[in-house]
Amino acid sequence: MEQNIRLDVNHMMADMLGSEHGITKEQLAAMQEAAAAAQHAVEANRGKGWLGWMELPYNQEEIVSKIEEVAAHVRATYEYFVVLGIGGSALGPIAVHQALNHLHYNELPASKRPGPKFYVEDNIDPERMAALFDVIELPKTCFCIITKSGATAETMSQYLIVTEALKAEVGEGWAKQIIAVTDHEKGNLIKLAKENGFETFFIPDGVGGRFSEMCPVGLVPAACCGIDIRAMLAGAAAMDARCKSDDMMKNPALLEAVLQYIASEQMGRNVQVMLPYADSLKYMADWFCQLWAESLGKNVKRDGTPCHAGQTPAKALGVTDQHSQLQLYNEGPFDKVITFIKVENFRSETKIPKGCEEFKDVAFLGGMTHNTLIEAERQGTEYALYVNKRMNQTIVMPEVNAYTLGQLMFFLEMATAYEGELLNIDAFNQPGVETSKRATYAILGNTDAKYDAARQEMTGRPAFKAEYIL
Ligand code: PA5
Repeated sequence: MEQNIRLDVNHMMADMLGSEHGITKEQLAAMQEAAAAAQHAVEANRGKGWLGWMELPYNQEEIVSKIEEVAAHVRATYEYFVVLGIGGSALGPIAVHQALNHLHYNELPASKRPGPKFYVEDNIDPERMAALFDVIELPKTCFCIITKSGATAETMSQYLIVTEALKAEVGEGWAKQIIAVTDHEKGNLIKLAKENGFETFFIPDGVGGRFSEMCPVGLVPAACCGIDIRAMLAGAAAMDARCKSDDMMKNPALLEAVLQYIASEQMGRNVQVMLPYADSLKYMADWFCQLWAESLGKNVKRDGTPCHAGQTPAKALGVTDQHSQLQLYNEGPFDKVITFIKVENFRSETKIPKGCEEFKDVAFLGGMTHNTLIEAERQGTEYALYVNKRMNQTIVMPEVNAYTLGQLMFFLEMATAYEGELLNIDAFNQPGVETSKRATYAILGNTDAKYDAARQEMTGRPAFKAEYIL
């Protein structure tokens, strides 16, 4: 079977939607020079600065073997595997697990699961940790603490809770149940790892959180729940090979970046809805949302010019959200691009039995499969969007497996890097997240001088008025 993912952009184009609502060949041609420059810039910086992630498919042979060794031990030893992390240190592991493992993985008997039960605790909802402790048994649990900065309050607060509980219940030897994934020198977690002798994997330089799925951040959890991480990396390399051309018609990620640039910057399509038609890809939409939002939402260009850049990503799920969001997509404002993800071959076939012959509207389903039904509904939605002249495109996955998933993730990462170039912004920082972090620390009374400015700014804010609180 053909294993390459494909990008079908027919419904983005004026040939299908007309020139008021679709992108013309002239618009594309006018972008070729900028597209080539974007491709050259990304390629020239491969492996440098924050583009270290581009090398991950090639430079991890040794580390992958070590991960496989540790993962084999985890699978043989533990009944529960818990990731503590947030944002880029959690969304990839969640998306990959959902995509490649059984949809009710944790409910399967151990004999049918390729690894321990899997949990990712990516929030500090006070009820969450209590709920986790209700379903795991501490002596049988491996905790994987993932934080690049080694300082994220959410993750480190969870670390404190978990290590205290482990020490109390397991006693000596508690540290053997912890795997740390962090920077090799910066932050607190690496110090704690050295002090306590945790099994440790490093997040390489030049790999930011949202670009970290192909390094130990993603590979350790994936391998511990039985996923073929070499196939994922091979998929990423295969996509990388397709991104070597500066001709957008030969480089799918470049074409994607250019189309989204034209759609958002020139035609007001400020929202991109990621709409997979597969439960397995549900959380790929979450992963994409962070990648696109945190990378491209910026208020200053590289030359210092103020801007308000970034197309807003949104997530939805086919067919479920046909019964929720689709009305808006078809008839609401012309401000969206809908990106379908279509799966050609599902891993199961569900036959619909014949029956209810007296009800024609039900009986016609008999003898079909859910496979034909979901694709027919996807095509129906695509047609409705086309009729309503709504830009849409389809990423086709021949099958969801580790190899095609590696391609998909690398494709979206490359498209994001190119888009950053086209927008002339820094796609690899996140200063807007820092403001809220500083304010939180100031609120919590952290007396470190670096939070003084935040504290002062916040006390200078006008007092809330009772009349606006009902
Ligand atoms: O993409 C990013 O950089 C962020 O989402 C981070 O991954 C997130 O803030 C967690 O940071 P850390 O891994 O340092 O704990």
